[in-house]
Amino acid sequence: MRVIHGGNERAARRALPLAVVTALAGLGSGCGGEETPGPGTDAATDAAPGVDAAVDAAPGLDATVDAAPGLDAGVDAAPGLDAGVDAAPELDAAVDAAPDAEPDAAVLTCGSCHGTETDPAPPPDTTGETATTARGVGAHQSHLEPADWHADVPCSECHVVPAAVESPGHIDGDGVAEVTFGDRATEEGATPAWSGVSCSGAYCHGATLSGGTMTAPVWTMVDGTQVACGTCHSLPPTEDHPALDQCYLCHDSVIDETLEFVDPTLHINGDVDF
Ligand code: HEC
Ligand code: HEC
Ligand code: HEC
Ligand code: HEC
Repeated sequence: MRVIHGGNERAARRALPLAVVTALAGLGSGCGGEETPGPGTDAATDAAPGVDAAVDAAPGLDATVDAAPGLDAGVDAAPGLDAGVDAAPELDAAVDAAPDAEPDAAVLTCGSCHGTETDPAPPPDTTGETATTARGVGAHQSHLEPADWHADVPCSECHVVPAAVESPGHIDGDGVAEVTFGDRATEEGATPAWSGVSCSGAYCHGATLSGGTMTAPVWTMVDGTQVACGTCHSLPPTEDHPALDQCYLCHDSVIDETLEFVDPTLHINGDVDF
């Protein structure tokens, strides 16, 4: 895990618990050798509720540390731990002010380590990357943001969503999300596979259809080329399909004569609709 410091308020809020862990561990910021959290983090820390929440979350911090081999190693290897605590009197004060704080992992919200408070999906990913070229970010938002041409794609189509931070299998130490495909990706007997780079054999990208030119899309190539008409199936499909390209003549609940989707929820929903 990498701790993000900087002026960006959202990043600062998101990074707060880890920033506090880092301060306690005397690890430094990890950003270009900076020794103290950046101004953005300070601002968040000065906002007393944030500090209290983070410190009250002592259990949450524990959870983070336990869950993060990198941080554990860092703490063990950190002779500066005491110095770090001494150097942060305001944290001490917050701790003193809350002597009977109960550890509570739930204080770490889903957006604490990846995504945002309103959407736990990357970006940022668990290492703070925001570029779609990063494996942890990739085409998340292309799948998740509202679309006018296809049905919604829930998280569970690609991997398990933990009910809680401490759910089994969620943070399992390898730092990599286990991709497990859902009902739609496996429609029509499709057998999708994730190679770490691309996704092949998925119903959604035309594995069971004919004529598609890019049925094994690369996860980190988010430039629109892999969602163009014709990439998942040709217009119309070449096998066992009427050789007519006026789709709306038969699939009129889905599409109109200008190829606008009249009901996007019926496209890539698992059924052929008419
Ligand atoms: C279209 C498939 C798909 C959907 C939908 C999807 N994900 Fe992912 N997710 C992936 C892939 C692929 C990875 C990368 C797995 C790997 O690194 O092997 C990933 C990784 C992640 C990671 C780990 C990031 C990291 O730093 O490694 C998180 C967190 C995550 N997804 C959350 C979500 C959440 C929350 C949602 C729903 C709001 C969601 N995802 C929806 C495919 C998807
Ligand atoms: C303490 C940091 C942390 C918090 C808080 C956290 N996650 Fe994660 N999450 C991770 C890490 C790290 C991964 C990468 C997978 C791994 O390490 O096995 C991950 C992966 C995921 C994935 C990808 C699938 C998987 O399990 O690998 C989803 C979905 C996800 N988290 C959703 C959530 C939700 C929902 C919450 C709130 C209930 C949440 N996360 C809170 C650190 C966190
Ligand atoms: C004359 C009526 C007709 C027209 C016009 C038509 N379709 Fe179809 N389409 C069908 C029928 C009937 C099926 C179901 C039989 C089948 O699976 O081939 C179907 C099935 C499909 C399927 C699923 C194919 C499969 O193998 O499961 C796709 C994708 C599709 N149509 C796309 C299109 C597109 C795109 C167009 C316009 C370029 C179009 N269709 C025009 C009648 C039509
Ligand atoms: C990401 C893959 C993908 C892309 C890109 C794609 N389709 Fe499809 N399309 C499918 C799948 C899968 C089906 C199978 C039926 C279903 O599940 O809706 C389908 C079915 C259809 C159908 C049959 C009606 C139905 O049931 O959905 C039409 C018409 C169609 N597509 C038109 C288009 C047009 C026009 C474009 C370009 C704007 C397009 N498709 C781009 C995956 C794709």
